[in-house]
Amino acid sequence: MTLPAQNEKARVVRSMFARIAGRYDLMNRLMTFGQDRTWQREVVRRAALPAGGRLLDIGCGTGGIAKMAASDTSLRITAADFTLEMLQQGRSTPPRRRLAWCCADALALPFADRTFDAVTSGYLLRNVVAIEHALHEQIRVAKPGARIVCLDTAPPDQHILLPLINFHMQRVIPWLGRLVSGDRFAYNYLPQSTQAFKTAAELARLMRQAGLVDVVFQRRMFKTVTIIQGTVPAGGHKDSARV
Ligand SMILES: C[S@@+](CC[C@H](N)C(=O)[O-])C[C@H]1O[C@@H](n2cnc3c(N)ncnc32)[C@H](O)[C@@H]1O
Repeated sequence: MTLPAQNEKARVVRSMFARIAGRYDLMNRLMTFGQDRTWQREVVRRAALPAGGRLLDIGCGTGGIAKMAASDTSLRITAADFTLEMLQQGRSTPPRRRLAWCCADALALPFADRTFDAVTSGYLLRNVVAIEHALHEQIRVAKPGARIVCLDTAPPDQHILLPLINFHMQRVIPWLGRLVSGDRFAYNYLPQSTQAFKTAAELARLMRQAGLVDVVFQRRMFKTVTIIQGTVPAGGHKDSARV
């Protein structure tokens, strides 16, 4: 399998998530051994939202992170994604009323500058055509001092269990994905796009270059999952830093 060319990528990604929307959550739970919920909880904790704050979860998919955040009933949460089928799937399960679902492109967010107290994303950056642009958009819509928190997979590092990790990613996940979702492409795309994606250190460098401060990351699941956060500086985003 060859990864789609950059100009084709958005179309391919959208149609892939449209096809697997119905089985997305189940598949996530199975292939992460249930850890996905723990990571979502950690993303929300790291977003450090004030009571009554506004959260944007971009690339929300079925809304796992946004729904996790919704357990704090004081928050105002926007869950945005460019795949309608993922949003519809998310809306079909509780909590329904507490989230504002929005169809939007992470590369052209339909929100004013300095709107949100935090912006989160789960497995978005690996899927966008331009990571830097996506980061600049997140920074633009975030208030000064807001946290930007990203969860994503990372290429496996040197590790004593590397053969086992590779077996899980390259054999078990595609096999399980085919079985559960019936979609061969999607769960071949996952290990391939992960392998081609940034390491945690590279992602941290991009976040600093985009203007974020206090960038730190944690790695989970034998370093194949990164949770990375940065803070929008007190002066807010600088127009000169935008793409
Ligand atoms: C792997 S899913 C992650 C869903 C959810 N965030 C989670 O943690 O489970 C990636 C999501 O990113 C969305 N996505 C990819 N590129 C996007 C873009 N440019 N704008 C908005 N959403 C995008 C896809 O539609 C998909 O729902």
